Amino acid sequence: MTDHHVIFMPSGKRGRFETGTPVLTAARQLGVDLESVCGGRGICSKCQVQPGHGDFPKLGVTVRDDALSAFNAVEQRYDDKRGLKPGRRLGCQATVQGDVVIDVPAESQLHKQVVRKAASGVPITMDPATRLHFVTVEEPDMDAPSGDLERLKHALSAQWDLTGLDMALPLLRDLQPTLRKGKWEVTVAVNHDENRITALYPGLREAPLLGLAIDLGSTTIAAHLCDLSTGAVRASGGVMNPQIRFGEDLMSRVSYAMMNPGGDLEMTRAVRDALETLAVDLAADAGIVANDIVEVVIVCNPVMHHILLGVDPVELGQSPFALATSDALRIAASEIGLTSLSAGARVYILPCIAGHVGADAAAVALAEAPDQADALTLIVDVGTNAEIILGNRDRLLACSSPTGPAFEGAQISAGQRAAPGAIERVEIDAATKEPRFRVIGCELWSDHPDFAAATRATGITGICGSGIIEAVAEMRMAGIVDAKGLIGSPAQVGTSRCELVGRTHSYLLWEDGNRRIHVTQGDIRAIQLAKSALYAGARLLMDEAGVDTLDKVTLAGAFGAHISPKHAMVLGMIPDAALISVTSAGNAAGHGARMALCNRAARAHIETLVRRIEKVETAIAPRFQEHFVAANAIPHATAPFPHLMS
Ligand code: FES
Repeated sequence: MTDHHVIFMPSGKRGRFETGTPVLTAARQLGVDLESVCGGRGICSKCQVQPGHGDFPKLGVTVRDDALSAFNAVEQRYDDKRGLKPGRRLGCQATVQGDVVIDVPAESQLHKQVVRKAASGVPITMDPATRLHFVTVEEPDMDAPSGDLERLKHALSAQWDLTGLDMALPLLRDLQPTLRKGKWEVTVAVNHDENRITALYPGLREAPLLGLAIDLGSTTIAAHLCDLSTGAVRASGGVMNPQIRFGEDLMSRVSYAMMNPGGDLEMTRAVRDALETLAVDLAADAGIVANDIVEVVIVCNPVMHHILLGVDPVELGQSPFALATSDALRIAASEIGLTSLSAGARVYILPCIAGHVGADAAAVALAEAPDQADALTLIVDVGTNAEIILGNRDRLLACSSPTGPAFEGAQISAGQRAAPGAIERVEIDAATKEPRFRVIGCELWSDHPDFAAATRATGITGICGSGIIEAVAEMRMAGIVDAKGLIGSPAQVGTSRCELVGRTHSYLLWEDGNRRIHVTQGDIRAIQLAKSALYAGARLLMDEAGVDTLDKVTLAGAFGAHISPKHAMVLGMIPDAALISVTSAGNAAGHGARMALCNRAARAHIETLVRRIEKVETAIAPRFQEHFVAANAIPHATAPFPHLMS
């Protein structure tokens, strides 16, 4: 029999195949990334390809118009029903008849790359743990009795070469009605990370599967609902962590668990309810039901990790800060109260690095990949508990630092979450001491004549984390605040905006009638404490690494993308570095969670990488306290900031 050159693009993979070989078969033999859900039955359309025609001198082939078999009845039926784009063929139906160059379009590739909108971070290549497999199951036979599950497994083995699959009891309850409803044809969602059946659908399931990537922070919970076939984010949202009512920071929540019998379980219930509600709400936003969600990835700090799992966090409140487990976890969603999701939905929780350095820091390392760079990079994930990573491909160090919730707008007199109406950018004229600002949801500055009209809908509701950072830094640059963080009197500063409120001065940022937003002395103190903790953690890692300079600084976190590097450095939040080398990465932990959701290899990578990351414990390091005290000044009591001067 004659054989022909078959070349797949864009991979460039090529081989010789006999006349009559289906394109899908050729692709599989060459390891070409061509999707299939129906296993070549001509009903899922996932295997679409586009053959080329004419001369391809660089590839050394000429493709005749009849290089593939003629459109067959199966393709015609599909085209009539759903429509195929011009020139497209179903790879499972078209067979090789001559030398051919075949383009695999992005939507037919399983491992397609998802474009990342944020400024930095590793792009996501799709390789989801969960994939769909359509099978035809033998009907029961009294003469050869066997269970429906056994015949389903036999079909998966015979038709997809999948063996040793597990299936949980809640899904077993759905099996018989699903098989009968589908007339013995069923689409099976298999989680290949766990070799487990996680969902069953009667007949061919054409709708994509959904997964949820959750960044469970101490103050806020952020989640992305993702299409597991394209990686597209179908809905995003966030809520305040309801555990705040038990304590604003991690240690106060550990104390709550210690002091109140059953307090840990109270917090467990609160956070699980919040996650369940968030999942249902995001599903509704995306126009689906939560039951379509088959996978969840969660990143969080160790205290959140333990409370979510229902493990008493008491050991994390005392040296040696032992974790119940630091390994990655693969558990049923129902075990942590996510009961609205698919009956077999699974949860993957990234590994923790150590006692106070959690799965969120691991997710940041995954997203920013400092282990794959030569540049010595400091990554600061700003949150209630800052995760800090320093290093490059040679060595990686990590710590966490208790910054408290001030950077997220809490503990600030007019503080609020980053939401429409919140002041997010501030400038203060050094000569007149007059401020101008911008609020979220409005492009105009407050001194623009149309500002009042433009903000009528949202109003001016408070000041968010990035707003307070800029406000304090601008007050320092304008001489309203001194290096110790004291707000001067009107006479000292030369503006009546400095008002005596109680026994200290406050700076009036905005007023409208009797509504006023001040930056108070208490606000400055809260920011000083937070920024000192951040700086001290970063500096401690630099001490451990034996370095005094940095090649690159990355600001991450829910509001990392909004922090101005200049203002962060004026405050002394981060060690001195060239401003040009300081960039914002947005929510790196959330991006890491998405990577682990969409790419199975990312899970294996981070599970290996965390073993290489050296953990530095800030709570017991005497140098941390020294750095903390010195960093209380703005920008710092002793450390020079030469790049601020340049
Ligand atoms: Fe399903 Fe070709 S593999 S239509």
